[in-house]
Amino acid sequence: MSKIFVDACFGKETPYTPVWMMRQAGRYLPEYMAVRAKAGDFLNLCHNPEMACEVTLQPVDIIGVDAAILFSDILVIPDEMGMDLSFVKGEGPKFSDPIKDEADLNRLIGEEEAANKLTYVYDTIKLIKERLADDKALIGFTGAPWTLATYMIEGQGTKTYNICKKMMYSNPELLHKILRKVTDVVKLYMEKQIQAGIDVVQIFDSWAAAIEPGKYDEFSWQYMVEIAEYLKEKYPHIPIIMFPKGIPAFLDKVYGNFDVFGVDWSTPMAFAKEKLGDKYVLQGNMEPCRLYSKEATTECVEAIQNIMQGKRHIFNLGHGILPDVPVANAKHFINECHRVSGKK
Ligand code: CP3
Repeated sequence: MSKIFVDACFGKETPYTPVWMMRQAGRYLPEYMAVRAKAGDFLNLCHNPEMACEVTLQPVDIIGVDAAILFSDILVIPDEMGMDLSFVKGEGPKFSDPIKDEADLNRLIGEEEAANKLTYVYDTIKLIKERLADDKALIGFTGAPWTLATYMIEGQGTKTYNICKKMMYSNPELLHKILRKVTDVVKLYMEKQIQAGIDVVQIFDSWAAAIEPGKYDEFSWQYMVEIAEYLKEKYPHIPIIMFPKGIPAFLDKVYGNFDVFGVDWSTPMAFAKEKLGDKYVLQGNMEPCRLYSKEATTECVEAIQNIMQGKRHIFNLGHGILPDVPVANAKHFINECHRVSGKK
């Protein structure tokens, strides 16, 4: 059965414009909170295929999105490379022993072995594929090497990125060695996600905007493109979505063999269409905080539809949904995307 989401990723005409939301499986859903409470903590949930499958399917059933996204986290990759991840309540992710020098990097587990340790992710994908309706797509994902490296070097989230930027300007060779190693793990990891059954790949570069535009290609984009090209050569039927958040100054320089460019909320959709719309399908890009108001949501969905006209477009938010958004408003967003694009 053809999947409208996959067709849209390849720029084919579809009966309406498909929609999903970044972070659609998460804390704004009471049903998610119930499973998470059963799991004990967030990482247990990621490690348990039965429960991870259940929360992956929740937004499909509850709010009616056109694609499911695998429930996991980008940080399971460095965790399985040997970096000891934990989630501290109220503080977000933490690595106890961040990478400071080459010796720390050399202690990490090799590509093949790290990718093989992520079996719970592949088992989750297989379960989801058994249970997901045939006309819905399953999105698998990874963090971009740069975004992963920021956590591996800083040991946690950061506002200033001072530790990784110090490395970028004073020891770029080491930063490139870290990015190389992560890129090689991610290639195998995404290949194994595809073999387990995902229909689409998304690469999240959430912290793209931390890099000055003139250095973005060198420290992030080229590695994302390398991953995309590796996968495209072997699996051309799997669409690839790139989501580099907050880099309007780089739009003129975007290149590479992938299908969909994810537009974040700070980049005007008309601007993205002018720069990239002929070459790539565009995904996005409602400012997620508009979800607090149904009127503000409708206004934005109509404006985006006016620009994209239902062509070469996938509706989404311009970043993840926040935990205190009412479920009814999330449903309203999905319904409005379907309504304006003519879903019967
Ligand atoms: O629905 C989905 O989108 C699928 C699941 C998903 C999660 N994380 C679950 C999650 C995805 C795709 C991610 C990606 C992710 N993780 C990114 C890139 C996307 C983005 O939002 O920019 C990043 C930067 C991370 C790292 C991460 N994971 C942080 C900084 C945090 C803590 C902040 C927060 O939102 O709580 C997490 C935890 C996390 N990942 C949660 C979920 C549902 C919250 C955990 C919980 O309390 O239940």
